[in-house]
Amino acid sequence: MADIETFKQENRVFAPPAEFVKNAAVSGMDGYNALCAEAERDYEGFWARLARENLQWKKPFTKTLNEADAPFYKWFEDGKINVSYNCLDVNLENGNADKTAVIFESDDAKVTRVTYRELHKKVCHFANGLKSLGVKKGDRVVIYMPMSVEGVAAMQACARIGATHSVVFGGFSAKSLQERVIDAGAVAVITADYQVRGGKQLPLKSIVDEALAMGGCDTIRNVVVYKRAGADINWVEGRDLWLHDVVANQPDACEPEWVDAEHPLFILYTSGSTGKPKGVQHASGGYLLWAVLTMKWTFDIKPDDVYWCTADIGWITGHTYIAYGPLAVGATQIVFEGVPTYPNAGRFWDMVQRHKATIFYTAPTAIRSLIKAAEADEKIHPKQYDLSSLRLLGSVGEPINPEAWMWYYKNIGQEKCPIVDTFWQTETGGHMISPLPGATPQVPGSCTLPLPGITAAIVDETGNDLPNGTGGILVVKRPWPSMIRTIWNDPERFKKSYFPEEFGGKVYLAGDGAIRNKDTGYFTITGRIDDVLNVSGHRMGTMEIESALVANPIVAEAAVVGKPDETTGESICAFVVLKRPRPTGDEAKAIAKELRDWVAKEIGPIAKPKEIRFGDNLPKTRSGKIMRRLLRVLAKGEDITQDISTLENPAILDQLKEAQ
Ligand code: WTA
Repeated sequence: MADIETFKQENRVFAPPAEFVKNAAVSGMDGYNALCAEAERDYEGFWARLARENLQWKKPFTKTLNEADAPFYKWFEDGKINVSYNCLDVNLENGNADKTAVIFESDDAKVTRVTYRELHKKVCHFANGLKSLGVKKGDRVVIYMPMSVEGVAAMQACARIGATHSVVFGGFSAKSLQERVIDAGAVAVITADYQVRGGKQLPLKSIVDEALAMGGCDTIRNVVVYKRAGADINWVEGRDLWLHDVVANQPDACEPEWVDAEHPLFILYTSGSTGKPKGVQHASGGYLLWAVLTMKWTFDIKPDDVYWCTADIGWITGHTYIAYGPLAVGATQIVFEGVPTYPNAGRFWDMVQRHKATIFYTAPTAIRSLIKAAEADEKIHPKQYDLSSLRLLGSVGEPINPEAWMWYYKNIGQEKCPIVDTFWQTETGGHMISPLPGATPQVPGSCTLPLPGITAAIVDETGNDLPNGTGGILVVKRPWPSMIRTIWNDPERFKKSYFPEEFGGKVYLAGDGAIRNKDTGYFTITGRIDDVLNVSGHRMGTMEIESALVANPIVAEAAVVGKPDETTGESICAFVVLKRPRPTGDEAKAIAKELRDWVAKEIGPIAKPKEIRFGDNLPKTRSGKIMRRLLRVLAKGEDITQDISTLENPAILDQLKEAQ
């Protein structure tokens, strides 16, 4: 990974092609500056105008922003809206009824096309089916689904009846699922028998069974099962229902439930620096507004585009840029069930070629691993494919190093496609800092400038503005429509995590460090400033993994740190003290495997430590604090140059150099 020095020295600039500028929704820096100036002149007026022009309201709002109960901000609060209506019915009314909404490609490359009319019908059946089970406005529904049209339809169906969904990524364990079901107080789980990825069938329903059997999930009345693979599964009579039975004979129409703009559309759990995952709660109106605007501004979406976001619906990117944004602007999008490396690492490029994708949005980790694969095997190198349909590329989830950016630009974008490096978070609902493809000159490794209306800034520890060229803490100074509303069940934690008193309680703390270029003011994200790791673009709390490790009866103590990794950005390195003597050799290897499997069961395979190191103890100060700074140095394999005079037990440092 390139370090901050590389970023600072980066001076290659890529201006948007003239043709692109001419046709772009936001055309040239003049267009960008005009929007920024409008927001500055009249902040509320700016958002009110956009909300009126871009969404269909059942009852128009008269109030734009309510700051009375800050930081619990309210947007468009007296307006009534339905998100699913805006994503589906609107398209039936404006001539998109027979346009393809989704090109679904399964793991084994079977392609299904669904029009807006068909998707609308599917969602109405689903919504009516949920209603027939007694699911109603305000209820929470957990969705634990593979990438599928049904997964998207499940989310839309919840939105249609005003139920708040909470999608749990299909890679999470039974324990993680159980915790989320309990915290959300869900009345139903929507799942599939299996998910199919990379030629393998992976169980989902049996994990739901296991989660619900762990206890505490008494709010659950039903488990609705989509038959994806048709393999044998366990069945709990009275609780479990096949999706095809639930939707059978349901009416083709379902009147949307008109909700207040602030009605919670969804809760999405994400990792924080301490304790258990936080249920990030998003509203309906403001969230959808930003999904629409960023589809138009950042992705410059046009009626003929074939848009493809490779994220999973289990993450925020799959919410805003698959399940909602593309539909709300009437786009045609690809939804892909499988993985980028099956049947080989040319799958993405093959799909771009076959479907003539025009916009491609993926994560740096995927790009880095595909670079490696392409270098190792000429046959799947992108140059073997016709990628000429592409006109815009995007990156999301983690910093993209300039080397990967350049490869993406040359090999995938054929030096003609702008790249939008979009910085944002689960909490922000949509893009925050990103180039606009027909306006902003791009610099590899920089997410460039805040979107119009987004008041991003860099401050010091006391909240004072820092000049360009000085690294500091990334904040957003004014509320914006798609921001997190609260943490489900924990408003205090919401205030403490995002609007801490040290910063005056009114600026949003992103949790990332950043620096602005002296000359251009361009932002570069320097990474998390809390104990959150970013592995392959997936957020994980070090504390979460530590808690999982110490929950194992043989573990006495554990400390987890991130280690820079060429492919995954960061990798997980765990330092472990056992309740028995420090293992070595084959025994150490065997225990390390046991602990990895344990973490996979406790959280999910994505949280498995790549390295485990055993010691008789951990490096601690005399007051007993674990010296994480030292552990980070050890993880990197660097020599310790820091002062270790306060260290209680320097001898154990040698033990902790050996990785399993
Ligand atoms: C990181 C994903 C650098 C950042 C949408 C943030 C990025 C966390 C970028 C949020 C980017 C996301 N450049 N870093 N373009 N995009 N991040 O909630 O550390 O899964 O705080 O949302 O990812 O991750 P989350």
